Amino acid sequence: MKGIWRYFQQCSYLPLWLAGLTLIGSFYHYSTKDTNELAEQQWLSVSMTCYRQKHPSKICQPITNVMFLKTHKTASSTILNILYRFSEKHSLTVALPYGNEPHLGYPRHFHASYVEEFKTLGNKFNIMANHLRFNWQQVRRIMPDNTFYFSILRDPTLLLESSYVYFKTFSPAFRNSKDINEFLSSPWSYYNLAEKNNIYAKNNMWFDFGYDNNAEYDERYIHFVLQNIQEIFHLILIADFFDESMILLKDILCWDLDDVIYFKLNARSQYSIQALNPENKEKVKEWCALDWELYKYFNNSFWIKIQERMDLKTLYKEVDLLQKRQKELMETCLLEETAIEHYQIKDENMKPFQAGHASIMGYNLRQDLDNKTLNICKKMIMPELQYTAHLYNSQFPFKKKKTTGK
Ligand SMILES: *[C@@H]1O[C@H](CO)[C@@H](O)[C@H](O)[C@H]1NC(C)=O
Ligand SMILES: *[C@@H]1O[C@H](CO)[C@@H](O)[C@H](O)[C@H]1NC(C)=O
Repeated sequence: MKGIWRYFQQCSYLPLWLAGLTLIGSFYHYSTKDTNELAEQQWLSVSMTCYRQKHPSKICQPITNVMFLKTHKTASSTILNILYRFSEKHSLTVALPYGNEPHLGYPRHFHASYVEEFKTLGNKFNIMANHLRFNWQQVRRIMPDNTFYFSILRDPTLLLESSYVYFKTFSPAFRNSKDINEFLSSPWSYYNLAEKNNIYAKNNMWFDFGYDNNAEYDERYIHFVLQNIQEIFHLILIADFFDESMILLKDILCWDLDDVIYFKLNARSQYSIQALNPENKEKVKEWCALDWELYKYFNNSFWIKIQERMDLKTLYKEVDLLQKRQKELMETCLLEETAIEHYQIKDENMKPFQAGHASIMGYNLRQDLDNKTLNICKKMIMPELQYTAHLYNSQFPFKKKKTTGK
């Protein structure tokens, strides 16, 4: 109670007094064990309101023009799903791949003509988030000037292992080695510069940002690239701190917590994860030195950004709320209340695309959901290709109907 009193002394606005009274009322109203949790949630929302009042710049409108550079094997499918759901909630227009292709021209450098109806819609798109190789000059032809640009990076050692399994059969450098450790023991004997489709095997994030993944390590060049990215992108998230990333994202975009609640999508079964030995972990930092520099730099700026906007106590309180809400929704929506192996998925339309030696997991919905809940739950588990096709069909009803992206 002492803390609450101090808070109201510091933050004595009338609306807050009212909110405080509601809060105190709720202490008496609820006598179940949920009381503390509920009071805590209300308390947090009161403190946020107070914080916004004390920091006028924080009074904000949700940002709805958003470009997400979807990097590979970085939990980016989960973010795509978040953006798709947000676009439906606010009736926004998504820059979808031409002809309902799965990508915006990847691995070619992006060109505006890869977007469906680019000629008629010009730069009036709100959301752009499908795989592409970044090319700012062309992206700017699609997205309005006030667009918020963000992306996500992942620890290159974990990323390379994930790429190895996922692109095992696709990438020549991976195909010819027994496992990730054999590959890393002498990468140059498997990696041929002249061969196509090896982009996943070396500095793939660097490549996705539009740069040369085979460039020599050169400090001035690296500095130049990092500065360039820093100037264009407002935010770079870190997959290794995914929930912290979601809190920072919704704070900067002025979105609701519910907008960033997610079920992990496109995750691999633990049976298809290979263990990197410690020596090879170090080797990745050399083999993917450009990605390693990229990751270190933006990991650092990620934490600086968090500290600019909130203290760590607030951060972890919100992370905790996010995880509680996620768990609640999983219990509401899911038959098994967790992700399951792909062969256990009952609804064929909800099966995620399977690639390489990776076994990609999915979900079963409960059978007894009411229509409204069913719709929310369905969108949360809908795999990328199916959701893209769904948006494509509803955005361009006059085009040829397709049920999946492949
Ligand atoms: C990322 O940032 C965190 C927090 O500052 C730090 O503990 C960690 O060592 C950083 N990781 C790398 C690879 O720099
Ligand atoms: C739920 O949706 C189904 C099919 O879309 C429809 O037939 C049914 O009437 C709906 N039920 C309610 C209660 O809206």
